Amino acid sequence: MIKLLDLFCGAGGAAMGYHQAGFKDITGVDIKPQKRYPFKFIQSDALEYLAEHGTEYDVIHASPPCQAYSVTANLPWSHGGPELIEPLRELLRRTGKYYVIENVPLAPLEYPVMLCGLMFDLKVIRHRNFETYPRMLAPTHSQHPKWVKAKTLNLYSAFSRGLTIITPAGNGFSKKDAAIAMQIDWMTRDELAQAIPPAYTKYIGIQILYALHQSAQSDPKIRCQATTSIPSDAGSNMLTAIQGATQ
Ligand SMILES: C[S@@+](CC[C@H](N)C(=O)[O-])C[C@H]1O[C@@H](n2cnc3c(N)ncnc32)[C@H](O)[C@@H]1O
Repeated sequence: MIKLLDLFCGAGGAAMGYHQAGFKDITGVDIKPQKRYPFKFIQSDALEYLAEHGTEYDVIHASPPCQAYSVTANLPWSHGGPELIEPLRELLRRTGKYYVIENVPLAPLEYPVMLCGLMFDLKVIRHRNFETYPRMLAPTHSQHPKWVKAKTLNLYSAFSRGLTIITPAGNGFSKKDAAIAMQIDWMTRDELAQAIPPAYTKYIGIQILYALHQSAQSDPKIRCQATTSIPSDAGSNMLTAIQGATQ
């Protein structure tokens, strides 16, 4: 069984996408308790856990906190946050495993792929960048339609008032709208504000399974460990997902 480690897992938006892609053995790690995380959970510092246990997994995803790299980081009242991406990348590379680092567009990621809800027909604009090893393909990004962001929308459903797209950050959104927009029905409002839509990691996860599948064809060592648990439709799934996302 392919083992996926989900670092900085929160309540599991990223993890759910990998599950939908076909990953069955998923372990999340977060410094805070995450009682709604839908898979195995370990409470720990992510970098410490990675240093000690990273090589026990086949694929490692990490969503470190984005405050240090966000557009709000320079505001006078912002406390910023720890800059974890460089030490994280160093530890990930040491494992030699396939990895994904997810973060906001201003984060110092290397050759990232940018994903947006519109690429997956979601009612959400939430740009997130993904640095991946091995590299991934990106879908086409269509023009954003005009949308309205009103501070009072947290009191009312934006969708019931005729809006078609939201951006669930700060106070300007309702929990119900965010759940619909991101296709996440198990999180609190605060957890939704931090999560990524599972559709993003489903897209990434299918490509990783395909890459594992390809390696398994040529490398007998990987074949022993992995082929039995790589879904046989990993390749065709990937093509369908890419075609769907780029139409
Ligand atoms: C952006 S959220 C993750 C969201 C998640 N990927 C999702 O899609 O639902 C970042 C998470 O990192 C956790 N965190 C912050 N510092 C941490 C650390 N040093 N070790 C482990 N987790 C940490 C926070 O508690 C938070 O849940």
